[in-house]
Amino acid sequence: MTWPLEDDAAWRPVRQHWSLPEGLTYLNHGSFGLPTRAVIQVQGQYLDRAAAEPMDFFVRELEPELIAARDRLADFVGADRGNLVFVENATYGMNVVAESVGLAAGDEVVMTTHEYGAVFRIWHRKCEEVGARVVEAKLPPRLESSDEIVDAVLAALTPKTKLVVFSHITSATAMKLPAERITRAVQDRGVAVCIDGPHAPGILPLELDALGCEYYTAVCHKWLSAAHGTGFLYVHPQVQSTVRPSLLSWGRVQPAVPETWQDEFTWTGTRDMATYLSLPAALDFLAEFGWETLRRRTHYLARYARESIANLTGHDALIPDEEDWYGAMITMPLRNDGRPWVEFRDTLRSRFQIEALVYDVNEQRFIRTSCYLYNTKDDVDHLVEALRVLLY
Ligand SMILES: Cc1ncc(COP(=O)(O)O)c(C=O)c1O
Repeated sequence: MTWPLEDDAAWRPVRQHWSLPEGLTYLNHGSFGLPTRAVIQVQGQYLDRAAAEPMDFFVRELEPELIAARDRLADFVGADRGNLVFVENATYGMNVVAESVGLAAGDEVVMTTHEYGAVFRIWHRKCEEVGARVVEAKLPPRLESSDEIVDAVLAALTPKTKLVVFSHITSATAMKLPAERITRAVQDRGVAVCIDGPHAPGILPLELDALGCEYYTAVCHKWLSAAHGTGFLYVHPQVQSTVRPSLLSWGRVQPAVPETWQDEFTWTGTRDMATYLSLPAALDFLAEFGWETLRRRTHYLARYARESIANLTGHDALIPDEEDWYGAMITMPLRNDGRPWVEFRDTLRSRFQIEALVYDVNEQRFIRTSCYLYNTKDDVDHLVEALRVLLY
């Protein structure tokens, strides 16, 4: 089926594939994506199997199915099947990298000023532990060219830089960063690269082996609409021997013993494995729409949100209006009406049944609108009307 990109009537029924309550305008898939009903169903089947016959499930059935799901994901992100492991989320993946890079006293880790707060915390703590330091590559407030991003990262490098960490698509500011260019430029200076990619799978076509970064961590519970707790860590073959899971367990399901870096992540203790095992159902569901359709429709809506919010406020986004700069999310400046941002966010929910990300940087307020396949222009219109009532 060919999906008419701009025809909301065709898209309205799509919402039934998610269990969103009626009346809720959910524009925050970027913070917490929600699994499709198909994923929840498959997840439930695996949970039932584990609950009814744990011995059979964990000991005999799990490992081959887990490896098949992992291989499917590796194929999807353009990675050799030996270069990727499942982890619960990007947070876990980033912690593994922090423990594996061999950071020592005097080393520097470069991060852009747009990195995710929890990722800053991971690197600050690790640096403090060993006497290293985080160096911020400051991006200009308004961006016009990707050269500005590459230049800012390169300007932060020194002979002490051990690693550069940057998002493939930033979280709060929702910008696509030029990952290939940054990776090449940084590696040319002999420095390793770790990409924080939770917003990329589904939104950007990934070819991780070709990208060539040392580490890439991401989640499938955002733009792939998989179960919460489904993430992955990609590690380049050159550094695999140094990578270890943050939690040491048997590695493989007994009596097998771990032989490769990847094996160490297969069994990290008894837990809910249905998250990983239901990932193929998420990929199947989206493949039916087509990956290009997913990207084009969600960008179309994000662009509509950009225009509509700018028309209301008179303030445009901080990045050019091009697909190279943003995908399914757009961050817009808003008038700060003096209410704390949490109160403003929660008023959108309590008065208008709208969920969106609101935050302040210094005194400037921003709103990030995330658009997914269950959204229509009606959702954006409802948000804009709510902003008009609250702010004007
Ligand atoms: C850029 C970025 N990095 C890391 C994370 C952490 O993801 P998780 O909480 O699933 O570990 C997020 C979550 O929103 C994110 O946006």
